[in-house]
Amino acid sequence: MALSLKRVRLSSNNSVGNSRSVTSNQTGIHPDLETTVRRHLEEPYRKPIAEQTQNILDQIEKKHIEIGGDLILDSGCGTGVSSYNLAEQFPNDLIVGVDQSDFRLSKNKSELEKQLTSDNILLFRANIIDIWLLMAKNNWKLGRHYVFYPNPWPKKKHLQRRWHGHPIFPTLIKLGGQLELRSNWKMYVDEFSEAIEIAIDVKEPVEPFVFVEKAVTPFEKKYQLSGQDLYCYQINLSNG
Ligand SMILES: C[S@@+](CC[C@H](N)C(=O)[O-])C[C@H]1O[C@@H](n2cnc3c(N)ncnc32)[C@H](O)[C@@H]1O
Repeated sequence: MALSLKRVRLSSNNSVGNSRSVTSNQTGIHPDLETTVRRHLEEPYRKPIAEQTQNILDQIEKKHIEIGGDLILDSGCGTGVSSYNLAEQFPNDLIVGVDQSDFRLSKNKSELEKQLTSDNILLFRANIIDIWLLMAKNNWKLGRHYVFYPNPWPKKKHLQRRWHGHPIFPTLIKLGGQLELRSNWKMYVDEFSEAIEIAIDVKEPVEPFVFVEKAVTPFEKKYQLSGQDLYCYQINLSNG
């Protein structure tokens, strides 16, 4: 009896509609945010770029020449559901979804492929940091850039793992485009907004994210069904 009860609890914790909101030992914007962002703005990030990255950029370039339109990046795309949704929303542009998790990427791929009528999407398993670095090194500019529900890294000591506290942050800005970030942790979005302001002196507000139609990503769906508040930040980085 005890065993079956335990099983029920475990499966209900994992199920859609029962997602817990983010808890953190941080009570406001991280006190080290400004010094961290400024330090990263001053020191170029020198991580070696994985060899396969050039091959990925070659594939993107070839497809982009074929499709035309804007290059739209879905960074940390998870299963790629959001990338497929974007491909339908922007049929004349090329959507590139990148995630480091093979497991997530292969989850719904064949089902999604069947639903899509156009051929304007590429998905890659890679570290997005390498992709951002090589794109920036080659002066690529994005039309749109989506960062949907990044890992929040809510522990105070993990500021440097959040995208705005990471040394890659100036590179992300350099890629330009209409950038959109969504999260279920308001602090993450507040910090991201402040970090952009520190970097380029442009302030855009953090807005509550309100559903117009369906959820765009699996995480968004999970949070929506759990009744969590969601937040969104958008900025046009095209003129940078
Ligand atoms: C919370 S999930 C959100 C997934 C998806 N965007 C969604 O909303 O359903 C965060 C995703 O970011 C991916 N990720 C985190 N760091 C990454 C990195 N350095 N390179 C590529 N993907 C990364 C993870 O594998 C994971 O799929």
